Amino acid sequence: MRDDYSSSAKTYDPVLHLALKPIRISVMNELLEFKEKAIIDLCCGTGNQLKLLAKNGFKDLHCLDRSTAMLEIARDTDHPLNIYNEDATQTSFENESFDIAIISFSIHEKDRNTQENFIKEAHRIIKKDGIIVVVDFVFDSQTTILAKFMITIIERIAGKEHYNNFKSYIQNAGLSSLIKEDRFEHIDDKRKLFNGVTVSIFKKIARFDITTIN
Ligand SMILES: C[S@@+](CC[C@H](N)C(=O)[O-])C[C@H]1O[C@@H](n2cnc3c(N)ncnc32)[C@H](O)[C@@H]1O
Repeated sequence: MRDDYSSSAKTYDPVLHLALKPIRISVMNELLEFKEKAIIDLCCGTGNQLKLLAKNGFKDLHCLDRSTAMLEIARDTDHPLNIYNEDATQTSFENESFDIAIISFSIHEKDRNTQENFIKEAHRIIKKDGIIVVVDFVFDSQTTILAKFMITIIERIAGKEHYNNFKSYIQNAGLSSLIKEDRFEHIDDKRKLFNGVTVSIFKKIARFDITTIN
């Protein structure tokens, strides 16, 4: 399988550090009451988010990606992270294995089918009343022109397929059209990066049999 991040893995954290740090802190603040819970970061990249959580006393941390290059950076830590090289659309975990799933900056770059499969898989592997934290771009009336400009430049640099998926994501009203109200209850949104990024919290609704989700 092609590794889209083989050439950018080593520079990912240093280049994006300033922009991502407040977002990582915001995600951690949303999760402070869950320090003892099982948390999985789907499409974790360099594991930067979980390293911050580990440093701040979170205990049961799992990290999944399918880029060998990104996972090599994720493994470069003294923190006890459980790291898996797997596809986030179809993981090996049993139903309801985790309390919390994080999906950060991974949805916008995918085609619609993959986006839906990320969300479905997150729903399957979190427990009843589990939480998903989705971090991704949002372009709406609150988003500043500066944020739109910066994010568009970054997405253009990321390549044609990535940029086309990003444009469709934005045109499709982003996350709000993706998260199904019968599966998740919307809990909270925090806006970051000049209102161009949302940290969105949803709680799983498990009122139907998970095997029937399609
Ligand atoms: C933009 S990076 C985001 C990384 C990290 N979540 C963050 O917030 O910085 C997108 C990540 O998604 C991973 N990814 C893309 N498709 C995937 C899939 N189907 N399964 C697992 N990881 C995937 C890529 O390898 C990459 O590490």
